Amino acid sequence: MTSNFENKQDFLPYGRHDIDEEDLEAVRNVLLSDWLTTGPKVEEFEQELARRSHAKFGAAVNSGTAALHAAMAAMDIKPGDEVILPPMTFAATANAVVYQGGIPVFADVDPDTLLINPEKVEEKITSKTRAVVAVDYAGQMCGYDELREIAKKYGLYLVADACHSIGGTYKGSPSGSCADLTVFSFHPVKHITTGEGGMVVTNDEDLIRRVKIFRNHGISDDLHQRRRKESWYYEIEMPGFNYRLTDFQCALGITQLKKLEFRIHRRNILAKQYDLFFEEVNGISPLKKEARGVHAYHLYVVRLDPGVIKKSRLEIFHS
Ligand SMILES: Cc1ncc(COP(=O)(O)O)c(C=O)c1O
Repeated sequence: MTSNFENKQDFLPYGRHDIDEEDLEAVRNVLLSDWLTTGPKVEEFEQELARRSHAKFGAAVNSGTAALHAAMAAMDIKPGDEVILPPMTFAATANAVVYQGGIPVFADVDPDTLLINPEKVEEKITSKTRAVVAVDYAGQMCGYDELREIAKKYGLYLVADACHSIGGTYKGSPSGSCADLTVFSFHPVKHITTGEGGMVVTNDEDLIRRVKIFRNHGISDDLHQRRRKESWYYEIEMPGFNYRLTDFQCALGITQLKKLEFRIHRRNILAKQYDLFFEEVNGISPLKKEARGVHAYHLYVVRLDPGVIKKSRLEIFHS
């Protein structure tokens, strides 16, 4: 059975990846090399995105969800620990807390921006709270000054779920530089893609060490560390997963990153056109854009005024 959505030839796709000859060449070269996984392209991709994020360290993993899970494990979120996050996000943000046995506690968003409201975060803090996850919904970065202040005041970790905001900025600082741990996704609907993929960036050496152990079955020393030590010996430090990203995916990530700036610029031009268009349309309004940095526009979200638009959200979607 085909849905109405599939029948509409002229309907804009939800997302469309963009792969060019440079990307293909980079992937081909790795496929013909000795290292398909755990090779040099992984570190190169990690270093390049960390550099662009003004972060010291990066750890590539095989999805944004894996990045969130690894972040929770690195912070040692345990059964009963509470993690505050907004309800306006993708399920993976809350699921990652649950994977660790933690309790997701929802703090509401500002209705104009759909970004987590720092005052609501503070109201939800209890003796069990360990971390706050800010989600840069649609590509606009959250109020990090206020969130950092709250995290510091209560001794909490601040995590940025920046799966929508790679390439965006907050008061001149790039996405990836505003929290203790930042998480990115490279799913094809995102700004840049590795097919599936994700990354954690941070300035904290211990946190990145734990992320890297977690993504590799919990093994204390990876292959390269063991080679350097000239020892086969390793310990299983924690029950980890195989969340590794392959070298050919990382090679794609590196060439995709070169196009990020242009893509953000292009998305901003298109968003401006939508803004102008919706100014003329009664009953439909875009989300508020705060004047504090570059919006990455993963999504362009509009709100329907039920007093003017009589159709339901589903009817609008199919009309
Ligand atoms: C806000 C947010 N967090 C996390 C994820 C999970 O990323 P991935 O699909 O790479 O697992 C997504 C994916 O769409 C997302 O939108």
